[in-house]
Amino acid sequence: MSVGIPSTRANTNQSTGGINISVDKPTHGNMLNENYQYHYGTELTDKEFNQLSSFIYNEYGIKMPPAKKIMLQSRLQKRLKALKMTSFKEYCDYVFSPEGVNEVIHMMDVVSTNKTDFFREPTHFEFLTDVVLPEFTAAGQRAVKIWSAGSSSGEEAYTLAITLSEFSQSKTPIDFQIIGTDISTQVLKTAIDAIYKEDKIADIPLTLKKKYFLRSKDPNKRLVRIVPELRQRVKFGRLNLMDDVYSIGETFDIIFCRNTLIYFDRETQEKVINKLCRHLRSNGYFFLGHSESITNMNVPLKHIKPTIFKRI
Ligand SMILES: C[S@@+](CC[C@H](N)C(=O)[O-])C[C@H]1O[C@@H](n2cnc3c(N)ncnc32)[C@H](O)[C@@H]1O
Repeated sequence: MSVGIPSTRANTNQSTGGINISVDKPTHGNMLNENYQYHYGTELTDKEFNQLSSFIYNEYGIKMPPAKKIMLQSRLQKRLKALKMTSFKEYCDYVFSPEGVNEVIHMMDVVSTNKTDFFREPTHFEFLTDVVLPEFTAAGQRAVKIWSAGSSSGEEAYTLAITLSEFSQSKTPIDFQIIGTDISTQVLKTAIDAIYKEDKIADIPLTLKKKYFLRSKDPNKRLVRIVPELRQRVKFGRLNLMDDVYSIGETFDIIFCRNTLIYFDRETQEKVINKLCRHLRSNGYFFLGHSESITNMNVPLKHIKPTIFKRI
């Protein structure tokens, strides 16, 4: 779609330190251009901030207190630029109109915080290898289904696949299937492509790198891709954890929901954990991120270790 810039505006485009900025031409005085960064009207007013933050909170659970106004403004500047819009008013009118339904997807791409890593919080993967998988296999289980809820760009899901594959080869053969879900389509695309910068796997032991990552033919690109044997066991899809019912007709043995609930308030966290538990089998394991807890929550989980729980 194309949105025209009102012709009444007279702007000069200037390049400062590699960043393209568009400024109003000073009409008088000796004012420095660097003082002008945004088009007039591209500052988020309190009214627009409240409109957007209430929507993001109600629809996606993500808390947006007033302290996040500048962050939201700067992240959404990218969307204004992409849509060639010159004010947040224009953007709000569009995003809340029937024509703007797809823009919500792009908005969530820039609003969500997607930080993740391979083998992030490594003790969880050690716990899987040393406790969970031996427990499952000792009970005769030979297939495991895992859900990475809030998977971001897929590093967590592929780390689970590597962990399961290693266990299966060195201990007891076990089949496995992993599902990753997120609200951001942008990170999901990376997850499906399974292509990462080589730096991202710098800390992974060489034996695992050789087994599970392919290097790009052009070494200058410094990219790696997860091997097809693992990719075929990991699937990704868009799912909003705020949905009343999750469109995922499966029950899992293990759910990872790490560093995602941290953006929700306590009440929402409790509701989401209860909904996730409906998809976790009895005695299945549930993992939270290092700074998340279920203290004082009414959820069907039993504490095993900090951030590790079992479905009652
Ligand atoms: C910081 S990342 C965590 C990634 C990974 N689990 C980890 O621990 O490394 C949080 C992810 O949660 C996703 N997220 C936030 N709100 C969500 C929602 N309502 N439904 C689904 N995913 C959501 C974000 O898009 C983001 O990719």
